[in-house]
Amino acid sequence: MQQNVDTCRQTDRRQFLRQGWAWLRLAALAALLYPLIQFLGFRVPRKPRDIKVYKEIKVGGFHMEPEFILFRDEKGTWAVSRTCTHLGCRVSFQEQEKLIVCPCHHSRFTSRGLRVGGPAKKNLPQFPVTAMAEGEGKGYVVHL
Ligand code: FES
Repeated sequence: MQQNVDTCRQTDRRQFLRQGWAWLRLAALAALLYPLIQFLGFRVPRKPRDIKVYKEIKVGGFHMEPEFILFRDEKGTWAVSRTCTHLGCRVSFQEQEKLIVCPCHHSRFTSRGLRVGGPAKKNLPQFPVTAMAEGEGKGYVVHL
């Protein structure tokens, strides 16, 4: 009888260790796959958003928001993302140089978001801009 109880406890312990080992392997696999998935650029797409800017921008001017920089010239208005395409730092427009510059590793872009230099390999994305609807006041709607 005592031998049966001991055998039963050993079996439970073995089963527990086997299950623990299986969970440990699963956790290790997830820890290895997560950076790989990140590296491959898998992203969950964001829902489209509209951001209203209640400000009129003069020709040749610009306006910075946390997520984009809004520019206006005689041809129209456009918005450029403020997220650097290198490692994601927040870029700023330097008026003296007329360039968008990243403070982290000094990638540089034109006001249209075209890459000029630095470690970033891609241009900054542009967002469509429309004028504010009548009755809403003067300003722009940026479609992120
Ligand atoms: S994050 Fe912008 S250049 Fe590296």
